[in-house]
Amino acid sequence: MQTIRQIVPLRETVASYRAAGARIALVPTMGALHAGHIALIEQAKLVADKVVASIFVNPKQFGANEDLGRYPRRESADARMLAEAGCAVLWLPGVEDIYPDGFATTVSVARVSEPLDGAARPGHFDGVATVVAKLFNQIRPDVALFGEKDFQQLVVIRQMVADLDFAIEIVGVPTQRDDDGLALSSRNAYLAPEDRARAVALPRALGVAARLIGQGGDVAQTLASARETLLSAGFDSVDYVELVDAETLMPLPEPTRPRRLLAAARIAGTRLIDNIAVAAADPG
Ligand code: PAF
Repeated sequence: MQTIRQIVPLRETVASYRAAGARIALVPTMGALHAGHIALIEQAKLVADKVVASIFVNPKQFGANEDLGRYPRRESADARMLAEAGCAVLWLPGVEDIYPDGFATTVSVARVSEPLDGAARPGHFDGVATVVAKLFNQIRPDVALFGEKDFQQLVVIRQMVADLDFAIEIVGVPTQRDDDGLALSSRNAYLAPEDRARAVALPRALGVAARLIGQGGDVAQTLASARETLLSAGFDSVDYVELVDAETLMPLPEPTRPRRLLAAARIAGTRLIDNIAVAAADPG
């Protein structure tokens, strides 16, 4: 695997792949890699000939009181994992390669960026869309892969790609989970063992709620009870537990449309998110 830190050699390397007729995949990350990221690389290898992974801890997607300063940085371990997984290139830009002096553009995707994490973390999805648009233009991949764990992010990126005519296929990869069901996340590393054990209440509460709603249970009551379950299990606060249309993220989805249940909650100061599909109601 080549580790590249400058835009000129990046462009040359990608151009040489393209000249050889290779299909190129991009897996954008913020590092602190885990098996969820490796699943993205594995999937990328199935749909492309060359996989480029990027690591950039994007300051524009962190709010003023968020964890940018303590976000885990493990460059050498990450590079080893990516090389072992079969990545062709690790793109490691500096801040000046992404946001050079005078950088003045923000990509803002209306509507799908607004509810849920968009409401809880103002500006977050503008930061995500801006950096992903930049990475797309730097690498010009044929396909880019994102985890469903960040489900709203995936919807925002699909909308951006459609609106701005990026000729890039977007592939969503199912969430990878620990044996007890907790979604893999770089932020799980912040949890002390006792908080990590209690955090499993999040996927469990979503699983129960998705089943009840899929069986036609009362939505408002089920969501309220999922919030209560999280608080009684030791979460300090719940930002949201919401049922939305899986494509538009609008609330109160038609039971016959694809629906998604999303949640964000804090435990011992760490904010965890998760989501799960809800079975469509039988129209008959
Ligand atoms: O999902 C992430 O790790 C980040 O939001 C992304 C897509 C790499 C943009 O910084």
